[in-house]
Amino acid sequence: MNISFLGLGIMGSRMANNLIENDVSLRVWNRSEGLSKELISKGATLAATPSEAVTGADIVFSMLSKPEAVEAVFFGEEGALASMKKGAIWADCSTVNPSFSRRAGIESKQQNIRFIDAPVAGSKAAAGDGNLVFFCGGEAQDFKQAEPYMEMMGNKAMHLGEVGQGASLKMLVNVMLAQSMAVFSETVLLGEKLGLDRDMLLSMLPTLPVIAPFTKLKAEAMRIGDYSDVNFPLEHMHKDVHLATLSAYEVDQPLHMANACKELFSSAKQAGMGRLDFSALHKYLGQDS
Ligand SMILES: NC(=O)c1ccc[n+]([C@@H]2O[C@H](COP(=O)([O-])OP(=O)(O)OC[C@H]3O[C@@H](n4cnc5c(N)ncnc54)[C@H](OP(=O)(O)O)[C@@H]3O)[C@@H](O)[C@H]2O)c1
Repeated sequence: MNISFLGLGIMGSRMANNLIENDVSLRVWNRSEGLSKELISKGATLAATPSEAVTGADIVFSMLSKPEAVEAVFFGEEGALASMKKGAIWADCSTVNPSFSRRAGIESKQQNIRFIDAPVAGSKAAAGDGNLVFFCGGEAQDFKQAEPYMEMMGNKAMHLGEVGQGASLKMLVNVMLAQSMAVFSETVLLGEKLGLDRDMLLSMLPTLPVIAPFTKLKAEAMRIGDYSDVNFPLEHMHKDVHLATLSAYEVDQPLHMANACKELFSSAKQAGMGRLDFSALHKYLGQDS
């Protein structure tokens, strides 16, 4: 099987590396030089354009920042879809909204390409260790064909139904993640103002059943006030909450808390924190008070 991987950022570079470690012969592409050097030294072939990257591939994985990036790389006359082999599979792992995934499914069908949406749960460490969980939508047989490769990059691949269902579940996960980060940040800031010890709060609060367990992983950055070890860029969290609220609008579901949370991430991004880890929301809220 010829496999291609497009988008070698924080996540994509690590996912591609796990395919190479599993002896997959891989052709890769990234818009900028990015993190491709190490992959090439391990045997990946670097393509000059998205079209070159996908030519002849049986399965194409993509891990791009947002819908606009996926559109720029795949759609249109010059896009990668037009150069893909008829009958090949495109598994888009980027976090995008379900209606965008459905559009990708339609564009793919027009080119005789089999599309699955395959976003992932898990961050930089899970991508590096091959411990991601894939949420997939699409035809069962297409999922089955791509599953062995997803299992090289993750420990679980779930088939949830038709195209768009993977993206739908991913929206839910990240909208909870964003709100939990905001709740934890505000709570710690309040605790400090009430005279409680910050270190105690950062180590004790994440152990309580009332809070999301992932907050443990963010406590050290919050303690030292350094958010430069980026697992998940804050600008992408803003994008994800935006896409979740857009999805809610499309199905006429009020999303009071998430909309408020979206504006917090928007303000933090405007304050120049977009490429810090998303836990920098704590820093932004601290400055604000
Ligand atoms: N980091 C996480 O913890 C995490 C976890 C789960 C899911 N995700 C999702 O995974 C995706 C990638 O995230 P990441 O953390 O790897 O982000 P990242 O490091 O910012 O990488 C983004 C990738 O998208 C490419 N890109 C952006 N705009 C583009 C455009 N207009 N045309 C072509 N390529 C473009 C970038 O290319 P350049 O290198 O040239 O900029 C890079 O390869 C996002 O959808 C994110 O929401 C992230």
